[in-house]
Amino acid sequence: MKFSGIIYGIFLVVLPVTIAISGCESLKSSRAILPMKEYERMIVGRLDAQYVGTQNCLSACHYHDEIRHNLDASTMGVQLSRKSGMPLVNCESCHGPGSLAIEGITPEKVEMDAKNGKQTACNYTTLIDIKNLPAQAQSLICLKCHTANATFNLHNWNAGAHAFSDVSCISCHSICSAFKMGKYDLKVQPKDTAEMCYKCHQDVRAEFSLPTHHPVPEKKLFCTDCHDAHGTNNDKLLRKETVKQTCAMCHADKEGPFVYEHAEITEDCTTCHNPHGSVSNNLLILREPFLCLQCHQGHSTSAASAMERKGAYYTQCTYCHSRIHGTDLPSASGKGKFTQ
Ligand code: HEC
Ligand code: HEC
Ligand code: HEC
Ligand code: HEC
Ligand code: HEC
Ligand code: HEC
Ligand code: HEC
Ligand code: HEC
Ligand code: HEC
Repeated sequence: MKFSGIIYGIFLVVLPVTIAISGCESLKSSRAILPMKEYERMIVGRLDAQYVGTQNCLSACHYHDEIRHNLDASTMGVQLSRKSGMPLVNCESCHGPGSLAIEGITPEKVEMDAKNGKQTACNYTTLIDIKNLPAQAQSLICLKCHTANATFNLHNWNAGAHAFSDVSCISCHSICSAFKMGKYDLKVQPKDTAEMCYKCHQDVRAEFSLPTHHPVPEKKLFCTDCHDAHGTNNDKLLRKETVKQTCAMCHADKEGPFVYEHAEITEDCTTCHNPHGSVSNNLLILREPFLCLQCHQGHSTSAASAMERKGAYYTQCTYCHSRIHGTDLPSASGKGKFTQ
């Protein structure tokens, strides 16, 4: 029974790990990384085209009016006054110069097309093919304006796992497709982050649906409380330098230092806890007593009944060792056994 319990425990730990590893593999792509100037070249647009301004782009053709309307209403939109010192944003800031795209489109042509039941299309193949650019070039379109100075929380973008792994700004922030759907506030609300992240991190969704989990599905806690999707200098995009410091943002009582510490193992809370979710109570990677029996032996005490004394306690060790994270008070024998 005990043995099969361990096997079961191990299986449940190994399974998600295996899924996690295989999940990440498929996220990676093997595109070569080019020198920066190559990406810069890709986002210039056609050299024989001129900037014509949004009014010229759209005056004849009302197909994109919804996008324009929502762009104008957004924080990024052209309504920002010139006095603000912020860069003005219009269609061509991202799509490139548009003169060739609208060449030959006149109000008369639009009227003719409409009579024939046709929608006038601009020659959009002369614009920058944003969707098919390499991720680095896609991001560069945004980084032209969203420099580390202008958008402070992007200052670690280039150091982050996302930038390294062909994830671009538009993998997470849809611009015009959001505008088309009538959404003009591009700010990502914390409650929307989990679904955004699960698009690529399916294995993490599975972890958060386990019996005990941090209340992310309940929307009391968010991926972005612990991770900075824009990149950090820390492992796993964590907001703090170590796992322990990340946990201590909210669980300061477990951080210590204590007079009696549980050796150096509390340096990394993940020795015992899975940060996302687990089949065991309290996010434990293994159920008690198996968790403890990885490193300790069971024992009995003088207070135990005669029958119990022959064997050892194989129940919940923290029933007695209730200060497992550390304590400032000694145990009955004057040592630190976390028993009070
Ligand atoms: C901040 C950058 C940015 C600005 C400004 C911008 N776009 Fe876009 N646009 C994009 C990106 C990125 C895509 C591709 C991904 C997407 O759909 O969001 C796109 C896609 C589109 C599409 C194709 C949508 C689809 O569903 O395939 C159209 C049409 C479009 N933009 C028109 C416009 C017009 C018109 C304007 C000006 C009113 C404009 N865009 C301003 C970045 C921008
Ligand atoms: C021509 C300059 C320019 C470009 C290019 C640009 N932005 Fe912006 N963006 C701005 C300005 C200005 C603001 C408003 C001020 C701010 O929030 O920093 C803004 C705001 C935003 C916001 C916050 C919006 C909100 O509702 O508060 C997001 C998200 C954003 N941009 C994403 C992007 C993405 C993704 C791209 C690339 C596809 C991009 N931007 C390209 C200038 C630009
Ligand atoms: C992996 C998903 C992801 C990627 C990739 C990403 N962002 Fe974000 N972005 C977010 C989330 C989530 C937020 C909400 C703020 C937060 O909690 O960190 C955000 C917020 C923002 C904001 C609003 C800033 C503010 O102060 O609230 C801007 C501007 C922005 N992102 C621009 C960009 C640009 C530019 C890029 C590419 C260089 C980019 N993002 C790449 C997920 C992403
Ligand atoms: C477009 C796909 C995509 C989206 C959306 C996305 N990620 Fe990622 N993420 C990746 C890829 C690819 C990697 C690199 C995988 C790897 O090499 O392990 C990664 C890696 C990570 C890592 C691990 C970093 C490391 O050092 O191993 C964390 C943490 C992470 N993402 C969190 C998030 C969060 C939080 C969100 C939502 C705000 C998010 N991701 C959205 C694709 C995505
Ligand atoms: C309570 C803090 C916390 C929350 C909330 C959280 N994470 Fe994590 N996450 C961590 C820690 C800590 C690690 C590093 C684990 C390690 O190093 O063993 C991690 C690791 C990861 C990794 C890389 C390793 C793996 O498991 O694949 C990804 C990807 C990730 N988290 C995505 C997410 C997403 C997506 C969300 C939201 C749905 C989220 N995290 C919510 C703390 C958190
Ligand atoms: C942003 C705040 C925050 C951070 C950071 C955080 N937690 Fe939590 N933690 C919570 C909340 C909220 C709960 C749920 C409390 C409740 O339901 O009463 C919780 C619950 C727990 C529980 C009990 C779970 C249960 O099923 O009862 C454990 C164990 C735990 N956290 C460990 C950790 C570890 C380990 C880390 C670091 C990887 C961490 N937490 C980081 C906020 C946080
Ligand atoms: C030696 C294994 C072990 C380590 C390492 C460990 N924990 Fe725990 N933790 C447990 C056990 C066992 C429980 C459940 C029983 C209990 O608290 O009595 C628990 C429960 C918790 C709880 C929920 C119960 C409560 O008291 O609020 C939180 C929160 C928590 N741990 C946070 C942390 C943090 C943060 C770290 C890292 C500083 C950490 N743990 C390191 C074993 C560990
Ligand atoms: C990853 C290994 C590991 C795990 C898991 C672990 N411990 Fe420990 N524990 C240690 C180490 C190492 C020490 C320090 C041993 C020493 O100083 O002799 C220690 C010390 C202790 C002590 C004090 C022993 C003494 O001689 O002072 C007690 C009591 C204890 N652990 C109980 C537990 C309980 C209960 C659990 C399960 C909730 C647990 N431990 C889980 C490694 C572990
Ligand atoms: C009925 C209460 C009780 C239970 C259950 C219990 N312990 Fe203990 N344990 C004690 C007491 C009391 C001490 C001695 C404390 C002292 O020094 O005063 C102790 C001491 C220890 C020590 C230090 C041993 C030494 O030789 O100094 C370790 C390690 C330990 N327990 C681990 C565990 C583990 C692992 C479990 C679960 C399998 C467990 N205990 C279950 C009460 C208990």
